[in-house]
Amino acid sequence: MEIDRRAFIASLGGTAVVEAMCPEAKAEALEHHLSDLLDESVGDGHAHLHAEEQVVAAPPEATVRRGAGSLFTPSGPANNRRMPELAPMPAKPTLVDFFNLRFAPANHVLQSATRALKTGMTEETILACLLHDVVQNLIKVDHGWWGAQMIRPYVSEKIAWAIQYHQALRFYPDPAAGYEYPELYVRIYGKDYVPPQYIKDAYEYAKKHKWYMEARLVTVNDLYAFEPGVKVSLDPFIDIIGRNFKQPKEGLGFDNSATAHMWRTMMYPDNPL
Ligand SMILES: [Fe+2]
Ligand SMILES: [Fe+2]
Repeated sequence: MEIDRRAFIASLGGTAVVEAMCPEAKAEALEHHLSDLLDESVGDGHAHLHAEEQVVAAPPEATVRRGAGSLFTPSGPANNRRMPELAPMPAKPTLVDFFNLRFAPANHVLQSATRALKTGMTEETILACLLHDVVQNLIKVDHGWWGAQMIRPYVSEKIAWAIQYHQALRFYPDPAAGYEYPELYVRIYGKDYVPPQYIKDAYEYAKKHKWYMEARLVTVNDLYAFEPGVKVSLDPFIDIIGRNFKQPKEGLGFDNSATAHMWRTMMYPDNPL
């Protein structure tokens, strides 16, 4: 194992400190140093979430929470973050306005809905695919539950249900339905990842539910929806939105629904209070 002599001396407090150490202390310090280096070389640098721990500590150098608030703080290196200026929203915003002015380019959900459309799935499934991850603009952790909650006042219960349970189902293959465990998750979560108990419970519940296939189809279309460079337009979905999304006449955010504040938060993420 290579040792950076200067880094080793610096880790002990500098040359003067090392010179004052007896040979035994120096040898011991070297052994500790080697052991640390070995740990670093073996670890892959990523903390994986184990089933029994549902909270991961933020790394000390983090400046944002990994699971929440991507709209409020851009990702990327801390010294290279620019807040994009957000377009003002119309007085009575529609779902399409949110797609154009907040969620854009939204390629992942558009690709997902396009696959549902091209394979002849129902309008409810297509809309579920179109909306399945949009809440990630607001929050990432537990996005199935948050996403279902946010749209529940405006869609059929079946659509909200499908979005809620796609989060759990994506960890469990169903080859008969065309869903294999995604290779991407091996990279994100680690090879031996075991989902936490609440995800297992949600899966067991959803598996026996009459709408299981609705949530499963969201995961089936999810898999194929990470193709770089494929741009999809919202146009083919405008009529489907019109027929299946109950657009409030006051505008999203101003209709006093149970989730109006979530839409307002995405509208004005820079408001101080
Ligand atoms: Fe998702
Ligand atoms: Fe997705």
